[in-house]
Amino acid sequence: MLKMGLKNLRLDQQEAPENIYFIASGKGGVGKTWFSITFSQALGQQDKKILLCDGDLGLANIDIQLGLTAEKDLTSSLMNYIELKDVIIPYPQGGFDVIAGRSGSGTLATLPPQSLIYLREQLKKLSSVYDIILVDLGAGVGTTIQNLMQIAGQCIVVITDEPTSLMDAYAFIKVMHGRRQVLPMNIIINQAETLEAGKRTYEIIQQVCEKFLNMTPHLLGIIRRDPYVRDTICAQTPILTRYPTAPAAEDVKGIVQMITS
Ligand SMILES: Nc1ncnc2c1ncn2[C@@H]1O[C@H](COP(=O)(O)OP(=O)(O)OP(=O)(O)O)[C@@H](O)[C@H]1O
Ligand SMILES: [Mg+2]
Repeated sequence: MLKMGLKNLRLDQQEAPENIYFIASGKGGVGKTWFSITFSQALGQQDKKILLCDGDLGLANIDIQLGLTAEKDLTSSLMNYIELKDVIIPYPQGGFDVIAGRSGSGTLATLPPQSLIYLREQLKKLSSVYDIILVDLGAGVGTTIQNLMQIAGQCIVVITDEPTSLMDAYAFIKVMHGRRQVLPMNIIINQAETLEAGKRTYEIIQQVCEKFLNMTPHLLGIIRRDPYVRDTICAQTPILTRYPTAPAAEDVKGIVQMITS
């Protein structure tokens, strides 16, 4: 079975569990990893069982933002066919579990087809154990990201108000929509000046998607630009632990309350 070619990897919508969310952006540095961590913790605070997996196969950094030392990671699972459940690291301070990635040499910056099949099967197994699995992707819209996206049940695209972020997010949505038209696309506007400005940014992406792709991505939420974010990343402590009432923390908690109530 592991010898199947890439063509055979295409999944039907029904086959991709809906509780597996892939977090993407197109442009790098927009806040995917920070959002993934904060979203995981906020969901955990609502008694959801959450697994956060570092799917940035080139420059993994969930463990860095959390200040974790990972002795096992996604790469060791994929390279040695170790069960994914056996590389999970509990992160009790945050109320969620983590699968770390690996940066630098020995990473899986390009994913062999058999590893993708293995990852798909392993994530599918874990999707019945967790309420939500979040996979934090790297930037870009290259082949590895496109292949990884085949095993997503849903997608969250993180966008800022910069034209480059909007353009790259649109390129990402366009490519993915071309491959899997039924994949639910959710939008997070991050680093918004105000909630109203964030709404206007969403409307730009909404309009181009409706005009050129004939689809409407769903607005999951808007997060304000907040100096506490950088502070918490430098301190390697999640914002909901260090500054739980900071504006960006409140925004993420609001998003979680909306989707869990
Ligand atoms: N809401 C916010 N307010 C202020 N700064 C933010 C916010 N969100 C993210 N940032 C800043 O953006 C930087 C990049 O964040 P992060 O590493 O999470 O982005 P990324 O999209 O995962 O990047 P990459 O594409 O390299 O993986 C952070 O160091 C932080 O300073
Ligand atoms: Mg990142």
